[in-house]
Amino acid sequence: MAIDRFGRRIHYLRISLTDHCNLRCIYCMPEGMTFHPYAELMQDDEIFIFTRLFSGLGFDKIRLTGGEPTLRANIVKLVHGISHTDGIRSVSMTTNAVLLSKLAGPLAEAGLQRVNVSIDTLDPLKFKQLTGFDNLENVWKGILSAEQAGLGPIKLNVVVVRGFNEPDVVELARLTLQHAWQVRFIEMMPFAGKTDFQTGQMVTAAETHSLIENAMGRLVPVNDQTLDGEARRFHLPGALGTIGFIYSVTAPFCGSCNRVRLTADGVLRLCLLRESELDLLTPLRNGASQDQLRTMVLEAVYNKPWGHALAQGEIPLNRVLNEIGG
Ligand code: 5AD
Ligand code: SF4
Repeated sequence: MAIDRFGRRIHYLRISLTDHCNLRCIYCMPEGMTFHPYAELMQDDEIFIFTRLFSGLGFDKIRLTGGEPTLRANIVKLVHGISHTDGIRSVSMTTNAVLLSKLAGPLAEAGLQRVNVSIDTLDPLKFKQLTGFDNLENVWKGILSAEQAGLGPIKLNVVVVRGFNEPDVVELARLTLQHAWQVRFIEMMPFAGKTDFQTGQMVTAAETHSLIENAMGRLVPVNDQTLDGEARRFHLPGALGTIGFIYSVTAPFCGSCNRVRLTADGVLRLCLLRESELDLLTPLRNGASQDQLRTMVLEAVYNKPWGHALAQGEIPLNRVLNEIGG
């Protein structure tokens, strides 16, 4: 079992399958972003080796991310292999849903259990402004296909960006009246590449909460405000779904953090918002044994940083978010 020096039990692995994406969200990558050539990314068999390595260390929960994970060749086969690995109890995916209307069924059959879909507006023009592509209709179809395929409960991730989609949060929250979805509003975090934009246009979760309450009336807390994953949850009276707020910047949930990330180029990222990393792919390719890799992982996880220091101005600048995985 992997435990860090603060006593946190680390059993959740997010695996980024590619740094490529078919959208260009305004807060994500800089202009002219270059992507890793395929040979530098973990190959399918390497992903399976790492999955077994981590499951052997007690990791039982996996989320596939990107970039955009559905762009990965063999995505269905990958999901099948990962979800059928001994010890893995749950496999989910964070996706922009552009390709989901075709893939939701096969992915669910392969063993995918849930999806989180990134969607920052319900207005087609704004969607184009925010993502660079005129693709809202596909995303919407993708979400409905995911629900039909049983990839629920569906969570929608909304990054709130000042000057772009603050007014849109009300319509997004309203979706929960008719749909048993969790719509989650996320504070924009700073990384390399878009740092000034990310810090300058960040809207706090508290502000988003007020925007929604001012338009729709009081939100009722769910679960006495214990965190569901990272979200503080509420619902509108009579709603089928819930509304979540993720205070990633202003009130992080580091105390209950149970996760680490594996980047698409096979590097273990110990905290989303800290630069500390451990390359695993190079030693694997150089012939390191499973035992050696296990020891490296356990030691790195033991030294997982407590949490971020954004308030002290420490911004992680060694990677752009699409190179880490959300
Ligand atoms: N801050 C917070 N969330 C972000 N995402 C992308 N960039 C940022 C950022 N700077 C979100 C995406 C997606 C998930 C992978 O992370 O919208 O939902
Ligand atoms: Fe693609 Fe996600 Fe970055 Fe948007 S946030 S450009 S969907 S990787």
